[in-house]
Amino acid sequence: MLGAAIRGEFPIFEHTTYLNSCSQGALSTRVRRAYREYLDGWDRNGADWEHWVERTEAARGGFARLMRAEPAEIAVTTSVSQGVSAIVSALPFERGGRTRIVISEYEFPTVGQIAHAQELRGAEVVHVRPEPDGSIPPERFAEAVDERTALVCCTTISYRTGHRHDVTEIARIAREHGALCLADSYQAVGAIDLDVRALGVDFATGGTVKYLLGSAGLGFLYVRSGLLPGLLPTQTGWFADEDIFRMDISDYSPAADARRFDAGTPPVPNIYAGLASMAIIEEAGTATIERYVGDLVERLHEGLDELGASVFTPREPARRGPLVCVRSADVDALVAALAAERIACSSRDDNLRIALHLYNVEEDVDALLAALLRHRDLLG
Ligand SMILES: Cc1ncc(COP(=O)(O)O)c(C=O)c1O
Repeated sequence: MLGAAIRGEFPIFEHTTYLNSCSQGALSTRVRRAYREYLDGWDRNGADWEHWVERTEAARGGFARLMRAEPAEIAVTTSVSQGVSAIVSALPFERGGRTRIVISEYEFPTVGQIAHAQELRGAEVVHVRPEPDGSIPPERFAEAVDERTALVCCTTISYRTGHRHDVTEIARIAREHGALCLADSYQAVGAIDLDVRALGVDFATGGTVKYLLGSAGLGFLYVRSGLLPGLLPTQTGWFADEDIFRMDISDYSPAADARRFDAGTPPVPNIYAGLASMAIIEEAGTATIERYVGDLVERLHEGLDELGASVFTPREPARRGPLVCVRSADVDALVAALAAERIACSSRDDNLRIALHLYNVEEDVDALLAALLRHRDLLG
């Protein structure tokens, strides 16, 4: 179910044209119900750990299906930051390993900041910058990646501009030089049909806040299974141990699978929400969502062209996702003017960010375009 058929599950549409899923997916009645179930179970059963651990494994399975990975290749995290910090903690920069981390200029702050934090351990960070049109072609990565490179970070879709990287080619370049490749897919998962094997990445990460329609505090990290025996995260916790309930403090014996990238007590309330919200995405199907959203994006582009707006995000499906960024002369004023008309968008840099998802309909696009016509002076 998607479009008009699913909209009733999201009460926000009763009063708002919601185009801000790149910041936070809309709250559904199902997710609200899931939180109540968690509280009811807690009330009824007290410490319901067996069930809560089972729910964590269900979330692992859900993330695996979304990424077309095996559950044994998925860590359940509380954030992208946790997963990325665990990855770099397994890279021996200060012990004679490769020292270079290559990051795109479009990485989310947390990825850039974690990379630069590794300078304290002897790493060197190289930034790959965009062309004037905002794209970052794989050739720019090829110039930065070499035999010193440990890790290449290429976000799947830029949270700042909506550009989609050619992740498959960037991962191939990394592999050619013996480097690992991480695709932060937060701005893609749930709206784009992803397949970690087709992408050829070593790591992929994301969370439930945006197009997975859940709440803060739940994420995942995919780790390609072949890597696992050689990767020992030193940022860890008891839920990463090979036997969580042995409670053994005599050594470090992480799980053989990607659970070694888990950490402490799982974020149980958020897992309830995430399971409910991921079910909405799975029922619709990511391939169907991607096609449906693609049609809305196309309609938006046509309307923006008619308005003479300067659209920063490419139009071709292979080079964009669900996020369209439009230049504005005063983006804060534009976001506020739209909000006053109960149209929720957001901004980054000088761009208005318009995010489309399975619950949006053509009328949302038309309402936004009509409002932009009224506020044409605020377009760039
Ligand atoms: C691309 C991307 N990565 C990561 C994050 C968030 O990272 P974390 O889960 O560590 O807060 C966001 C948004 O909040 C994002 O858009």
